[in-house]
Amino acid sequence: MSKSIDISVKLGNLTLKNPFIVGSGPTVKSVDHIRQAEDGGWAGVSVKLAIDPVPYLSLPPRYRWLKKEKLHIFTAEERLTPGVSLNIIEEARKVTNEIKIFPNITYDGDDPEGWVKLAKRFENAGAHGIELNMCCPNMSFNLTTTGETTEKATGASLGSDLVELPKVVKKIVNGVNIPVIVKLTPEGGKIAQAAWQSLIAGAAAVGGVANRLGIPDIDITNPMGTIYRLQDSITLGCLSGPWIRPLALRDTYEMRIYNGSEPFIIGSGGVSDLSSAVQQIMTGADAVWICTETMIRGFDWMPKLIDNLKSYMKDMGYNSISDFRDILHKNIKDASGLKVYDGFAKVDLDKCTACGLCWNIGHCSSITHPDGITTIDEVSCAGCSTCVDVCAPKAIEMVQRMHSRAGM
Ligand SMILES: Cc1cc2nc3c(=O)[nH]c(=O)nc-3n(C[C@H](O)[C@H](O)[C@H](O)COP(=O)(O)O)c2cc1C
Ligand code: SF4
Ligand code: SF4
Repeated sequence: MSKSIDISVKLGNLTLKNPFIVGSGPTVKSVDHIRQAEDGGWAGVSVKLAIDPVPYLSLPPRYRWLKKEKLHIFTAEERLTPGVSLNIIEEARKVTNEIKIFPNITYDGDDPEGWVKLAKRFENAGAHGIELNMCCPNMSFNLTTTGETTEKATGASLGSDLVELPKVVKKIVNGVNIPVIVKLTPEGGKIAQAAWQSLIAGAAAVGGVANRLGIPDIDITNPMGTIYRLQDSITLGCLSGPWIRPLALRDTYEMRIYNGSEPFIIGSGGVSDLSSAVQQIMTGADAVWICTETMIRGFDWMPKLIDNLKSYMKDMGYNSISDFRDILHKNIKDASGLKVYDGFAKVDLDKCTACGLCWNIGHCSSITHPDGITTIDEVSCAGCSTCVDVCAPKAIEMVQRMHSRAGM
């Protein structure tokens, strides 16, 4: 008899009934949001960032969802006060059953003990775990990136400081009895090392925010304009959504490969369906935070995703999340370990419309078009396969050479 499929994961002493957590952001700012997430079948929610002392940077939200690029970008964002977040958690605990609630917090004062006091207040309010926001690029990190000076080290700045980060994490871990999750930034290029420092300081889990700071498209006829509505000028914007997936998978992979198979790692960045969720797990995530997709589509698509995940696992012969976590690692080689097959491009003239797109490939001198007929010189073809990708009617395919040329 086949074993039943179990999609639960264990984070410290907590069991998440599935690997899906609503990521901290605008969709976890009220008790009603948390109730909706529970009704939708989500395993957990990370409440919107609360900053103590009161937010020094909190603006009405200004977002853009660029449908074509599948890119979300924002500059202005509203944060919670600790009082509001604490109240949400207390009230949500009264009206929910299973869903795990994680406040996302930052302490912005001078005394690191302030972190501990803040975390303790959330523990007392009923939080299942504490999520340390060591990732928000819109605070001190954004200021320093745009050339402003600031003494403050919060969010992404603290999360990239491999000396101060573990000191703060250790204090908090020693001060509370619930799991501490450290949410880290890839900005600064040291996410795997920051994860390591957090874990040896006692964090129960680490994760990646995926967000990068960027500059959205500029209208070159109106460079002083902005793509944001109801907003003047721009600042570096926080990028998220499916566009960011390849970078987000790299973050998860880096954290996993550097820190080994033991730690609980939460991935995020553009998860919106079965495939993007499974890809995160395959590169090393035990669970994923999903934010942008909940902004666009709400919460009630989760039951379908869970059904899809279970039937996918059944088809693939996986009984638990750990059966396919990290599986991609076996397929990732360094360049010297890659096996590359000798081959060439072949055109099917019955399908070729002579559109000319492949005739213009800048790095290729193997394609010519005598009398308008696409001709590929198999001998000089380097086998790069760009022509396959530019050809809309799929008239070109790659063929493996049976007898390798000398030197291959
Ligand atoms: C509008 C917006 C607000 C966010 N606010 C927070 C936050 O307060 N704290 C935090 O840790 N992450 C925050 N994030 C990051 C998300 O939780 C998530 O890690 C990231 O956007 C990548 O996942 P996604 O592509 O599913 O959005 C925010 C993201 C967005 C788009
Ligand atoms: S595979 Fe590369 S080199 Fe070969 S014909 Fe196509 S574009 Fe040219
Ligand atoms: S891109 Fe495709 S259809 Fe166009 S000329 Fe090349 S082979 Fe023919």
